[in-house]
Amino acid sequence: MKRKLILFRSKYGSTKEYIKELAERIQGDCVISDAKNFSGNLKDYNLIILGSCTYMGRIMIVDFIKKNKQILKRRKVYLFVVGLIPEDNEASKQSFELIPEEIRKNLLGYRKFPGRINITKLNFFERMILKMTKAKMEDLVDYSQVDLVIEDLKESGLL
Ligand SMILES: Cc1cc2nc3c(=O)[nH]c(=O)nc-3n(C[C@H](O)[C@H](O)[C@H](O)COP(=O)(O)O)c2cc1C
Repeated sequence: MKRKLILFRSKYGSTKEYIKELAERIQGDCVISDAKNFSGNLKDYNLIILGSCTYMGRIMIVDFIKKNKQILKRRKVYLFVVGLIPEDNEASKQSFELIPEEIRKNLLGYRKFPGRINITKLNFFERMILKMTKAKMEDLVDYSQVDLVIEDLKESGLL
């Protein structure tokens, strides 16, 4: 039976928390892996959900997407990203545009979920960036957002 695959990139854990929540709500066989350690075959999966954090305008899982573009463009792929800049902000739109067009235009769905910044975990460089951009140290993680992904997938007939 074709299975579901969830791949993620998360630096400080909030994206991984969303992934755990999502996996609990998806019924049936579901493989979860950090995209950077994934060694399976993408062709073995009927549905591929990608979840990624965003740093300095870059959706972290974009490198994986670019590397596997030829296979991914023929698969059913859903993407959600996590960050503190709202989805309708121009900066968020620009981050999304960095995804190769063949993949971007073929996505089953795309959503951006609110993230978290915990100053005590950040390195010196990241702290400097935040100071310069005057970004707020916030925890906006909201697991109920995961319901939106579930609804999207149900509408597509994949759950
Ligand atoms: C240095 C730095 C840069 C960031 N840049 C962005 C950004 O460009 N866009 C955005 O939406 N969020 C940005 N964020 C917020 C993160 O995406 C947010 O903290 C997210 O929850 C991180 O996910 P993770 O915990 O899985 O690593 C940034 C955070 C830090 C610390």
